Amino acid sequence: MPMPKVIVLATGKGGAGKSALTRSLAAHFLTAKQKPAIVDADPQMSIARLHDPDGPMGQITVMADPEAETVQTSITELAEKHQPVIVDTAGFRNQTTIMAAIMADLVLIPLKPSAEDITEAVAMYDLIGELNQTPERKGRPITALMVMTMTTPNTVIVRHIRKELENGGYPILDAEIAQRVIYPELSIKGLAPSIIDGDSAASRDIARLATEISKKVGANGRVKAA
Ligand SMILES: Nc1ncnc2c1ncn2[C@@H]1O[C@H](COP(=O)(O)OP(=O)(O)O)[C@@H](O)[C@H]1O
Ligand SMILES: [Mg+2]
Repeated sequence: MPMPKVIVLATGKGGAGKSALTRSLAAHFLTAKQKPAIVDADPQMSIARLHDPDGPMGQITVMADPEAETVQTSITELAEKHQPVIVDTAGFRNQTTIMAAIMADLVLIPLKPSAEDITEAVAMYDLIGELNQTPERKGRPITALMVMTMTTPNTVIVRHIRKELENGGYPILDAEIAQRVIYPELSIKGLAPSIIDGDSAASRDIARLATEISKKVGANGRVKAA
C-alpha cells in the first residue's frame, strides 16, 4: 500500500517514543520489502550511533544530519532512492525539526499518556498549523497525526486522553503503541521488533499503525476522504 514518502517524527517532549517508532517503522518497511531510510536529525544521534551496517537492520540507510541548514537536502537526496524516508528529531523544539517538517508528507506526533506529552504534542500540532500558513506549504498543507505510545491498552487514562484530544479537534490515530519491554531491550542494540519476530505483539502494533497511515494518507501526504 502506498505510504507517505517523507515521515517526520516530532514532538518537543523527550522520551515520547520518537526514536523507538522511527526504528520500528523502518524495520517494518524493510521486512515489507520496501527501501526505507532514516535521517537522524537529533543531535544526540541515538539512532545513528547504534546503527550497525552489518546487523539485521544494516540494509536501512541511516544518515545523521542534525543541522537546520542541510537537513532538507539530506531528506531530498535520500528520497530519490528510498521510500519511505523517516526522520527522527530532537527531544526539544529546534530549527532542524521545523526545516524537516516543511519537507514532510506526514508529521507523526507521538505522545505517552502524560500531561507533559499531551502539552507538547498539541504545541507541535499547532506549530505545523503555523508552518502551513507559510509560502512553502500554503495550498499544500503538511498532514500531522498524533499516535499514543507506551500505553496500557483500554485503560481509563488512555480512553480519557483520546477523548480529550478528539474533542479538541486533534487527529489521533486509532492504532496505539503499547508499552512493551521489547522496545528498550532491542533499542540497546539499535534494533526493532519487526526485524526479530514479525508476529510479536509489538510488531503487530507497528503493522497496524503503518496500515492505518497508508489508509488515511496518500503518498503525496494528502489526507484521503473518509
Ligand atoms: N512502546 C514502548 N514500550 C516500552 N518502552 C518504550 C516504548 N517506546 C519507547 N520506549 C522506551 O522509552 C524510552 C524513550 O523512548 P524514545 O523512543 O527514545 O523516545 P524519544 O526519542 O522521543 O526521546 C526508550 O528507552 C525506549 O526504548
Ligand atoms: Mg529520540
